Amino acid sequence: MSTQATPLTDPRLAELAAECPALRLLTEPGDLEHYGRDWTRRWTPAPLAIALPAAAEEVQAIVRWANRQQIAIVPSGGRTGLSGGAVAAQGELVVSLERMNRVLGFDPVDRTLTVQPGITLQAVHDAAREHGLIYPVDFAARGSCSIGGNIATNAGGIRVIRYGNTREWIAGLKAVSGAGEWLELNRGLIKNSSGYDFRHLLIGSEGTLGIVVEATLKLTDPPPPSQTMLLALPDMDALMQVFALFRARLSLQAFEFFTDIAQKHVLAHGAQRAIDGDYPYYVVTEFDAVDATAMDVALSAFEHGMEQGWIVDGVIAQSEAQAAALWRLREGITESLAPHRPYKNDISVRIGAVPAFLHEMQTLLSHEYPDIEVVWFGHIGDGNLHINVLKPAALDDAAFIAQCEHVTKLLAATLRRHGGSISAEHGIGLVKKPYLESTRGEAEIALMRQVRHVFDPRGILNPGKLFD
Ligand code: MLT
Ligand code: ZN
Repeated sequence: MSTQATPLTDPRLAELAAECPALRLLTEPGDLEHYGRDWTRRWTPAPLAIALPAAAEEVQAIVRWANRQQIAIVPSGGRTGLSGGAVAAQGELVVSLERMNRVLGFDPVDRTLTVQPGITLQAVHDAAREHGLIYPVDFAARGSCSIGGNIATNAGGIRVIRYGNTREWIAGLKAVSGAGEWLELNRGLIKNSSGYDFRHLLIGSEGTLGIVVEATLKLTDPPPPSQTMLLALPDMDALMQVFALFRARLSLQAFEFFTDIAQKHVLAHGAQRAIDGDYPYYVVTEFDAVDATAMDVALSAFEHGMEQGWIVDGVIAQSEAQAAALWRLREGITESLAPHRPYKNDISVRIGAVPAFLHEMQTLLSHEYPDIEVVWFGHIGDGNLHINVLKPAALDDAAFIAQCEHVTKLLAATLRRHGGSISAEHGIGLVKKPYLESTRGEAEIALMRQVRHVFDPRGILNPGKLFD
């Protein structure tokens, strides 16, 4: 990837460069390819150019220029998205926030960290730890994803069961609207009963309302010491039985599941087997373990699960390294599946609806994908299931996507009946746009379009994402 500015033959870009002389603009084919795609790898990148602003004022100038020139903008963070929300395949200007990656301040009284949007989640974690606190949203892409992208998708991850989604942790946002206006949303206040809270509209808006240029994040105390267990389960029903048992007796920090097929891939990708033999379902759970009494409670829950036949085997980490190895079995799944070009569903139902829903899903998927490998894993304690369908080598891309889209239609109908969501945490983007109606009512989508028009009357920001 080149870091040098290239000659700007397009007069529209030349005008932008003249207006913002310090703005870094890239037009080399390698850069267009790099910044034009996300982790979906389905669309061929074709942006007009890449802008890398270093300051909020430059972002505002870019948005105003784009309004005048009628050029679409794709806001861009770490591009680890799985729904095509950061894809630029239609001559858009990609506005990468990666140079705006600094911590701007820490307030020990408010216990907030103010950051620029391009900072990685890992760097936010590190900065919070330096002050003896944590930013608790966490997931496997932490080293590459940006906080701006997390906000755009209301990212969830592995600790939602304890701490909730990104939305809970945003005290304030500064943003540039699609019309180029400067917005200061909530200003870090805890109490603010002064009308509409646009902060929450921007969170999860997938870059269609505004570009976040600064975020004030809430921090909290580190959790008490924890223990990590891996459990092997005999069948699907046991998943929620063990969840109910553990949740009743322990203070859970995480409760994640994966199947034997997921384990097969992650082991082939270098993870270490922790339980001998293969079982249909596995759970990685982490819970507060302050002292020996807490461990006794955990062990008695485990034994009860064994007596009931809900658990067939299990291991408990004896060190941080062992805990990390158990977590790798869950967190390494995405990377291990990537070479198989998976089609990803990221769905949720209420926790109480999980058992009935899982049974219907299993029937549907085994009927619709008889000869295709389907990998299940996810945040089952939040009612969030990731279904990854692996492309058989013999099937061409188009036929594979067509088959998966057909099944997703059926899945969307099932979700509608169970009151679930077609996207729990990855966002709608391009991938799930055709199924938005399964989760949102007609009137609600009409209002969403109107809200979009208010923030971005010319439809400059991320057009074609979320809805047309
Ligand atoms: C995960 O939970 O591992 C992520 O959402 C990524 C994925 O679904 O592949
Ligand atoms: Zn996930």
